[in-house]
Amino acid sequence: MTDEAPVVTIDGPSSSGKGTISREVAGHVGWHLLDSGALYRLVAHAGLGRGLDPTDVEGHARAAAGMQVVFGADPDGGERILLEGQDVTQAIRTETAGQGASRVAAWPAVRTALLQRQRAFARPPGLVADGRDMGTVVFPGARLKIYLTASAEERALRRYNQLKGKGAGVSLAALSREIAERDARDSARAVAPLIPAPDAELIDSTGLSIEEVVGRVLQLGAVRSLWPPQ
Ligand code: DC
Repeated sequence: MTDEAPVVTIDGPSSSGKGTISREVAGHVGWHLLDSGALYRLVAHAGLGRGLDPTDVEGHARAAAGMQVVFGADPDGGERILLEGQDVTQAIRTETAGQGASRVAAWPAVRTALLQRQRAFARPPGLVADGRDMGTVVFPGARLKIYLTASAEERALRRYNQLKGKGAGVSLAALSREIAERDARDSARAVAPLIPAPDAELIDSTGLSIEEVVGRVLQLGAVRSLWPPQ
């Protein structure tokens, strides 16, 4: 981790709103953004692309270390992710890709292979890092650590509305099951499990609007002099 750049970490379970909140906060204060979940999704996708056996740990670790990734924006400012020059923005956002990511993320060799790549995102003026182990493992010295949760029902409903908005045919019951399964795997794994850092600020976003949660994070950052009061 570079000493010059302050880091804010936002960890939490699937569909807790981490991605949206991290993007909004980073945009507000003009900091860089790390979507670490996208990296795990990319590893699973790269494995598929290379025809790897889903249980091939070493092959996936090599893919994690060697994959060429570009995080960019489309002309409307939406996210655009290139893997080996191919646009995989949509492909890595499916539930299947999320499950694949959660599986490869349980392997220590894959996590180690991604560590430096993640830390390299910490550049001035600062970084907002979104994931499961940002505050516990990747950036233990972060200046502000947030652990963002929401009730299981609300998380499933948010994900349902998000996917429906994209025109995908989804079932709320199936989504609830998938989210519970992913949370269980992410929390139970031996390495870098999903747990709040001891010094994390817990925010339960159940019943809160995006603006309210963003406001709370901005306020916590201002108290730590990371940025002026917004
Ligand atoms: O945040 P997401 O849904 O895009 O993450 C996909 C999976 O990647 C998640 O189920 C677990 C894994 N992951 C992880 O193990 N550590 C991170 N820092 C981020 C994601």
